[in-house]
Amino acid sequence: SESTSPKLVELAKRRGYFFRSSGSYGGVGGFYTFGPQGASLKGNVEDAWRDRFAVAEGNMEIDAPTIMHEPVFEASGHLEGFDDMLIECPECETSGRADHLVEDNTEYEDAESLPIPEVEDVIAEYELACPECGAGLADVAVENFNLMFATNIGPGDAQPGYLRPETAQGIFVEFPRLKEYARNQLPFGVTQIGRAYRNEISPRRSIIRTREFTQAELEYFIDPEVDEPPLERVEDVAVTLYPASEQNADDGSVVETTIGEAVADDVIADPWVAYFLGVAKPWYASVGVDMDRFRFRQHLAGERAHYAADCWDAESEIDGNWIEIAGFANRGDYDLSKHADHSGDRFTVFKQYDEPKTVERATVDPDMSYLGPEFGGAAQDVVEELEALAARDRAAFEDDTVEIELDGESHELPVEKTGFSVDEETIAGEHVTPHVIEPSFGVDRLVYTVLHHAYREDEVDGEARTYLALEPEVAPTFVGVFPLQSDDELVAQATDIVDDLRAAGLSVTYDDSGNIGRRYRRQDEVGTPFCVTVDYETVEADDETTVTVRERDTTEQKRLPVSDLPETLAALRSG
Ligand code: GAP
Repeated sequence: SESTSPKLVELAKRRGYFFRSSGSYGGVGGFYTFGPQGASLKGNVEDAWRDRFAVAEGNMEIDAPTIMHEPVFEASGHLEGFDDMLIECPECETSGRADHLVEDNTEYEDAESLPIPEVEDVIAEYELACPECGAGLADVAVENFNLMFATNIGPGDAQPGYLRPETAQGIFVEFPRLKEYARNQLPFGVTQIGRAYRNEISPRRSIIRTREFTQAELEYFIDPEVDEPPLERVEDVAVTLYPASEQNADDGSVVETTIGEAVADDVIADPWVAYFLGVAKPWYASVGVDMDRFRFRQHLAGERAHYAADCWDAESEIDGNWIEIAGFANRGDYDLSKHADHSGDRFTVFKQYDEPKTVERATVDPDMSYLGPEFGGAAQDVVEELEALAARDRAAFEDDTVEIELDGESHELPVEKTGFSVDEETIAGEHVTPHVIEPSFGVDRLVYTVLHHAYREDEVDGEARTYLALEPEVAPTFVGVFPLQSDDELVAQATDIVDDLRAAGLSVTYDDSGNIGRRYRRQDEVGTPFCVTVDYETVEADDETTVTVRERDTTEQKRLPVSDLPETLAALRSG
């Protein structure tokens, strides 16, 4: 079928939804500006997300900096492993993603999960060529390219900083403080809506893959041993699932089921992930994603991020392609453990037992007059090794000698010199490192999906019409108010109505230019759900003053009393 994207991108620019940034300077790939309509639609989507994932779930919201210094990303693993596969054409020097090249031109659907040498082999085997100039790429080396945007904090380059590639890290690094606000009680959740930055090799498909974008993320901290999600709240939610097993099967297909059944049948193995899929699905519908063009797809084993134990994506269909619009991952204790190791701060929650417990504890109290001469400057390292060994492996102290490793070399020392003993101890609780369940939403991709799924073409009075059937809750403008003609009396009445509707909290646009049909078409294209027209019947009425209210999708018109208008329209907005 015909592709909607070019028409939508043109409409988006013409009507102020989004356009390439800095067009006067030729623009630069991967950066977009949301115009007046787009900024408003995006803001409404973010508000709706906040209402559902922060307020209604009882989670806390924070707002952290977008630049963070180097130790954060050394700990998170992003400096080491947040890479895409880069291939550069030797002829025209165009660079692109090697995995995309393979996916676009072979039957491999998940080239991202292949190791680089295999990708190179596939490129050679299929004799793939540069999409720009046609030069052969068989002998070209594929390289890892790190997606982090680097900068310097303060003068000079002594303090490297990076633009965050996900809002999540701004939450993780603050865990030692956030847990205090949650009164050290698991489970609790922290949300953040904000910008993330990735130096994408090839930004593409307008705002679907950009270098600066907005994420809405929830990091939900749980004690994996005791906490269970309130699945009963979402068990009846119907979902379309595309599990890894079906993707791997020759005749695999999506599974139509409910959250409750998917958990019972082990299609979704992680009940926490299942819970958030169940929350997300009706929410996506409420902001205008077409549920016939929506599914949850499980990541294949090789596709998961460096931190993820299991992951499902929300995907929307756009022009026949499935686009990832959110990821739902169980990140385990990966991030908090890493930040604890690297910072030395405490990324745990103290779990108090119902009753104090008596436990056995192995300790050492080494004879320093022996270790000193024997190990010299390394005596303290030996003590630490012995302490760690006693905690981890008591049996190692059962013989006459105990073996430890120091700088990769093994040493034996008499157990009697270690002061090893096992004592009973009463403890009130323990420090647990929470696990993290993460629903991570891309706001730009969602805005694009919402616009795409709202795009309609029909015919009104024999004339072609384009309109956006946006949900009233997110539509940037809720109502257009027009005087039929620019007659003083009509204008005065229309202006009064504008004031009243704005006072009722509605987003209103006033328009008195052009013929009335043109004004309706303009609002149809913007996706304004209602238009109010003030005509001579309005101003000449003896008894009740009425106006024409036109509904966008049906173009039906009704006369309604002006006095009730704010109330009637406000009720229509909240559905
Ligand atoms: N904290 C987890 C995380 O960042 P991700 O799957 O890399 O996971 C989450 O990103 C979401 O952010 C994606 O589902 C997508 O909607 C959005 N996203 C990622 N990269 C993007 C890009 N270059 N342009 C626009 N949106 C992007």
